[in-house]
Amino acid sequence: MAALLVTGGAGYVGSHTVRELLERDEHVVILDDLSAGHVVAAGGAEIVRADLAGPNIARSLDEVLGRESFDAVLHFGAKAYVGESVEDPEKYYRNNVGGGLELISAMVRHGVPALIFSSTCATYGNPERVPIAEDHPQRPINPYGRTKLVFEWALQDFEVARGIRHVNLRYFNACGAHERGDLGEDHRPENHLIPIACEAAMGKRAHLSIFGDDYDTPDGTCIRDYIHVQDLAVAHVQALEHLRGGGASASFNLGTGMGHSVLEVIDAVERVSGKEVPREVAPRRSGDPPRLVATSEKIRRVFGWEPRFPSLERIVETAWAFKEHFPDGYPND
Ligand SMILES: NC(=O)c1ccc[n+]([C@@H]2O[C@H](COP(=O)([O-])OP(=O)(O)OC[C@H]3O[C@@H](n4cnc5c(N)ncnc54)[C@H](O)[C@@H]3O)[C@@H](O)[C@H]2O)c1
Repeated sequence: MAALLVTGGAGYVGSHTVRELLERDEHVVILDDLSAGHVVAAGGAEIVRADLAGPNIARSLDEVLGRESFDAVLHFGAKAYVGESVEDPEKYYRNNVGGGLELISAMVRHGVPALIFSSTCATYGNPERVPIAEDHPQRPINPYGRTKLVFEWALQDFEVARGIRHVNLRYFNACGAHERGDLGEDHRPENHLIPIACEAAMGKRAHLSIFGDDYDTPDGTCIRDYIHVQDLAVAHVQALEHLRGGGASASFNLGTGMGHSVLEVIDAVERVSGKEVPREVAPRRSGDPPRLVATSEKIRRVFGWEPRFPSLERIVETAWAFKEHFPDGYPND
């Protein structure tokens, strides 16, 4: 069986997808610089430690891709903090665009025919219409979103010139943890609402900041589409089957189609944990649209994808179980 290269496979979404692939007896090689990943999350898969934006990346990729046959790349490896991207755009263009181009060039050199890309709802910018469909205009409003959109364009152009087929999976808010409780979200610093709310409930943070409570939404707080990380992982497997079966390049939103406000998430964390989440209202963050919700009709229709974890309560239960398992994050980093 041909191997799969998974960039960023030691990170949050990548590690859950690696587990899903290993459980299907796929042969996985991870390429990760461990800038944000965790060795223990890799599930025993081989990790080639290399920086996509580093000076020796072409050699590292040649060494990996040259030693056996690969039939696809799953590309999670990227920088993913919106605020940081505004302060340090060079880091984002070097990693997310430059690093991505190194990867595509190596795929061309070694005849790897397909790539699955972790894209984002941030490529849509401020939505003109909600729920957001895949044909919604893509006008990102920060460098992070722009680097992801540029890479989507690069994939389109390399398909025409070099025949590499691809699937862009535009995630909305990835969340939750593996149902077994031993794999989950451990970003340092953490910037996602559910783990932050769990940490506040555990007393590991003084409070959670609610960025604006005067939006035009029913309770005044922002509404997002929370998609469980195992549902994301399964979508990657389906995208892989699609490309292996000769399917055409395509882009898909990945959300549940349901929106939850910040206050609804906090309530769910309080219910699941049985603890209070101390909170403070802070000013709005610039570039935070009031409502970001996907329509996931296309991926349901084309791949038959269905979320196994559509309920916010269940999502929070998995996140809380992981936090209880590793209150200080993954060990031995
Ligand atoms: N988490 C979300 O809600 C979300 C939403 C939309 C899109 N995405 C995208 O999904 C992907 C995974 O997100 P995540 O939350 O798992 O992030 P993460 O930070 O947990 O994982 C990213 C992984 O990539 C690795 N990496 C980063 N830069 C690298 C480089 N230059 N070379 C090699 N490895 C590198 C990190 O060490 C880490 O293991 C990212 O591309 C992100 O932009 C995430």
